[in-house]
Amino acid sequence: MIEFYNVQTKIDKNIILKNITFRILKGEFVFLTGSSGAGKSTVLRHIYMDIFPEQGMVIVENFSSAKIKEKEIPLLRRKLGVVFQDFKLLSDRNVFDNVAFSLRVTGAKNKEIKRKVMRVLAEVNLGQKRNFYPRELSGGEQQRVAIARAIVNNPFIILADEPTGNLDADNTFEIMEILEKINRQGTAVLMATHSQEILNKYPHRIITVDNGQVD
Ligand SMILES: Nc1ncnc2c1ncn2[C@@H]1O[C@H](COP(=O)(O)OP(=O)(O)OP(=O)(O)O)[C@@H](O)[C@H]1O
Ligand SMILES: [Mg+2]
Repeated sequence: MIEFYNVQTKIDKNIILKNITFRILKGEFVFLTGSSGAGKSTVLRHIYMDIFPEQGMVIVENFSSAKIKEKEIPLLRRKLGVVFQDFKLLSDRNVFDNVAFSLRVTGAKNKEIKRKVMRVLAEVNLGQKRNFYPRELSGGEQQRVAIARAIVNNPFIILADEPTGNLDADNTFEIMEILEKINRQGTAVLMATHSQEILNKYPHRIITVDNGQVD
């Protein structure tokens, strides 16, 4: 499902990833850890093909970094759910429309959009707040909207880049429990985190990035 083969990547003239090889299997939950600047976000960017290796290859389902065409990248991204530390919600749209946005782009019918959006809002326990705007929500609630948006297209994996980085302990726990639940339902999760507490509490495989290399 996801494979990195001897990936080496430069940004400007600096080598950021050095000969990285690993794979993520169907339905796995894997943590990506390592110090600030080690390369965790850069690894995730390769998976949604926002950046490409200079040597080696990244395989995501049936797409290869070596062969994918520009116009296929939206198709790839529709199979992934991406969640960021800073939520990245659209501030001028309410909760429902933030989640519906990517379904509308695919030309889905209104009735189907409503059914899917309400289903994922129920998953993150936000059905009651569907008409709220992001500024009217707490950080934890905004992150739950971002997770609902990430799962609405039934991705095979959630890529989460420090999803709890801006949250307090209670909200961190709530987000982790939602990610665990989504994973139990069969969706893989690859989550970048600094938090030793999270790594200790949730017994999943850990990939450590150290100065652009993995162990
Ligand atoms: N757009 C960019 N331009 C120049 N250098 C970059 C860029 N993006 C990342 N880098 C460099 O690549 C290296 C890895 O960055 P990356 O963001 O992947 O680290 P990280 O492990 O996610 O760090 P953090 O824990 O702080 O989020 C860093 O040295 C960073 O300075
Ligand atoms: Mg990062």
